[in-house]
Amino acid sequence: MREGPSKRASSVTPFLVMKLLDQAKLMTARGEDIIRLEAGEPDWTSPAPVIEAGKRALDDGQTGYAPSAGVPALREAISDWYRERYRAEIHPDRVFLTSGSSPALLLAMAAVVDLGDEVLMADPGYPGYANAARFLGAKCVRFPVLESEEFAYSADRIAELTGDRTKAVMVNSPANPTGARVSPSDLERICSLGPWVISDEIYHEICYEPDRCHSALEYTDRCFVVNGFSKRYAMPGWRLGWVVVPDSCLSVVRNMNQNFLLAAGTVSQVAGLEALRKGEEHVQRMREEYRGRRDLIVRRLREIGFGVPGYPAGGFYVFANVTPFSQDSVAFAKELLNETRVSVTPGMDFGPASNTYIRLSYTTDRDRIAEGMDRLERYLAARAAPK
Ligand SMILES: Cc1ncc(COP(=O)(O)O)c(C=O)c1O
Repeated sequence: MREGPSKRASSVTPFLVMKLLDQAKLMTARGEDIIRLEAGEPDWTSPAPVIEAGKRALDDGQTGYAPSAGVPALREAISDWYRERYRAEIHPDRVFLTSGSSPALLLAMAAVVDLGDEVLMADPGYPGYANAARFLGAKCVRFPVLESEEFAYSADRIAELTGDRTKAVMVNSPANPTGARVSPSDLERICSLGPWVISDEIYHEICYEPDRCHSALEYTDRCFVVNGFSKRYAMPGWRLGWVVVPDSCLSVVRNMNQNFLLAAGTVSQVAGLEALRKGEEHVQRMREEYRGRRDLIVRRLREIGFGVPGYPAGGFYVFANVTPFSQDSVAFAKELLNETRVSVTPGMDFGPASNTYIRLSYTTDRDRIAEGMDRLERYLAARAAPK
């Protein structure tokens, strides 16, 4: 008998940022003044009406299981939202609520990927995609998104890598960690290539461009669209997300969901419905604040000497080239934490080609961002000065 954990489980790699996050939290708890620019978590609490709705649901005793695919009123509200926002007709039966968008991504990939299939994904990209693919026995094939092209997806490059074994293409727009958006024409082309498209649209509402983001659902039915409440409504702790499933995969997703995940939290779904109904003002306020922070952090990073090709279109991240200071993002992130008490995420987390980058999240207020940038500037200038 083989000892130890399964090969499948062992294929999942640690999220380096989690280690750093724990260290930053520990240092904060010890009373150190840490400027937290590493976490992908909004720094506001959820909107007041959402919190009230959650409390009311608890007071009403709504503590039982929700239907496996989700509370009907919420599935309908999400379907309405696709009609209003994207002019896409999605039957509520195609919407599955999950505990955050993370299980939704796994459901989508598991629905279409077989052992040995290839899944195309961006490098750099969100690490959950590669881990989910490996976990399912698939091969990750990465298409580069280049700093010289402001990290834009190139449908041509994706087409070149698409072959007989390609089962799915992951799309994330605006993207973590770069904040870049896929252009409507590239998205349309990616959707026409043939493989399934799994489109993670979790940052759609956090976008600073005047034109709206486009959903894969506008171009194809051969797609899974993942979205959630964590980022746009500042609800990460409620653990609520969803996946829109194509008709041909409804029964497999239903079966996996019923067996492995059961249902998303009932109270969270009641709160989520309130967010969809009353959260728009919060989204607008949050977006304007993020925009101001983005402008500040990009300007300061450039002044300090980091490479930042442009103003990221969305999300709340900047992916900065650290080549003038280091070739090793992990060592550099540790050094910054220890020497300046500024905590950032090493680029290594996001793919093999990203070890000369760090990701900074502007999920902290402008005064703290300004202070963090001042600390980096002072430290890096002193470090470069002849001894
Ligand atoms: C691109 C992307 N997708 C999915 C998630 C998962 O979010 P959640 O499970 O909280 O919905 C994250 C979280 O950081 C993310 O950045």
